[in-house]
Amino acid sequence: MRAVIDLIYAKREGETLGRETIEHLIEAYTADEVPDYQMSAFLMAAFLQGLDADETAALTHAMLYSGEVLDLAEVAGVKVDKHSTGGVGDKVSLILAPLVAACGVPVPMISGRSLGHSGGTLDKLESIPGFRTDLDTQQYRQQLADLGVVMIGQTAEIAPADRKLYALRDVTATVEFIPFIAASIMSKKLAEGIDALVLDVKVGKGAFMKTEAQARKLAETLAGIGEDFGKPTVALLTDMNTPLGYAIGNWPEVEESIACLKGADVPDLMEVTYALAGEMLWLGGVADSPEAGIAQAQSAIASGAAFEKFVELVEVQGGDVNMLHHPGQRPGREPAGEVVAPDGFEGYITDLDALALGQLSTRMGSGRATSADAVDPTAGITLVKHLGDPVQPDDTLAHLHTRHVAQLDAYRQAFMEAITLGEEAEPVSPRLRDRYYRGAWQSA
Ligand code: URA
Repeated sequence: MRAVIDLIYAKREGETLGRETIEHLIEAYTADEVPDYQMSAFLMAAFLQGLDADETAALTHAMLYSGEVLDLAEVAGVKVDKHSTGGVGDKVSLILAPLVAACGVPVPMISGRSLGHSGGTLDKLESIPGFRTDLDTQQYRQQLADLGVVMIGQTAEIAPADRKLYALRDVTATVEFIPFIAASIMSKKLAEGIDALVLDVKVGKGAFMKTEAQARKLAETLAGIGEDFGKPTVALLTDMNTPLGYAIGNWPEVEESIACLKGADVPDLMEVTYALAGEMLWLGGVADSPEAGIAQAQSAIASGAAFEKFVELVEVQGGDVNMLHHPGQRPGREPAGEVVAPDGFEGYITDLDALALGQLSTRMGSGRATSADAVDPTAGITLVKHLGDPVQPDDTLAHLHTRHVAQLDAYRQAFMEAITLGEEAEPVSPRLRDRYYRGAWQSA
């Protein structure tokens, strides 16, 4: 291998690096043979000079094979997972995984934790008392075969290079770079043993990607890697300017998911969930088209099969199923306070800033500032009024769930700063934007 200093120099000068060079570098870094100061310099050189599609694929390959790549070949069916690039109130996985499994497509899902303003599926699941996300790979495989769905956290064996690199990116201002983000996400997803993948690429204030151009580029890069690895991959571009659904925070989002699995219609949340389910059922080979898949998913909610699958999943993974049947009995769920419309105001909610509300919920206890922090499972915000809703004087706008009761007034003020009230209703833009599959965009 060329000396690491030569690689840093080459990248700094804009050279395109070969597959073997990148693979050797990542291998050596994972084995602690390259110090962080040299890897930091390499990351910044790549960030500033760019990585092309071949370099990004080589990076993904190297990160993927830095650890265990699970083989699910003995589990019958086309295994399909979904990945979201992260947002506020994004509880889609909790509804989607059991829903798709109930329709006959196995869903092996390995998820992450919340960080910064955006939530994480693992923290949401662990807010169900007793729920375990630390299954080993044998249990993961067996549960998928038996139940058709399994939801766990990243094991130490999966993509260790990503774990090391992500920590370094975090402290070297090299996180927001599409090739790194794509290699990081796809190395973990490809290690799960999937056959196909659906991506929910979020765009807007509460998303990683703030502009449509960036989000499209990320979707194309992610899907391109999936296809390169022989896994059919669909990406949907969805709006994340405002929180998805009404609940933000771990248990509040579980409660909303339970309600939706039981048939409650939260229109924006279910529109995104059904669109993703339709794609997964189509890729999984049980529906002739994504549209037919949506109809199947709607039937599985209406029949109760999706909720039943969620109950089975929670039971097998050690969670208290009584909480699913009686979510109102979850200790600590009661709000500490509420936010009320300003005196004398009559009008509409014209904006709810997803980023500001995600940050507020994190301050209230639902998230973590660093990966070492603990989360409060019941903290968060439950909106009573959503975008476009009319507001009358004294209407409750939101419930605040927090243990920091001394801060309630500050939280109320932050909530009011995060939303916009207007006298006239404004048009609400659709959640679903575009769909990308095999090199082509079409409207979703
Ligand atoms: N999520 C990941 O897993 N990795 C990134 O780099 C960004 C988001």
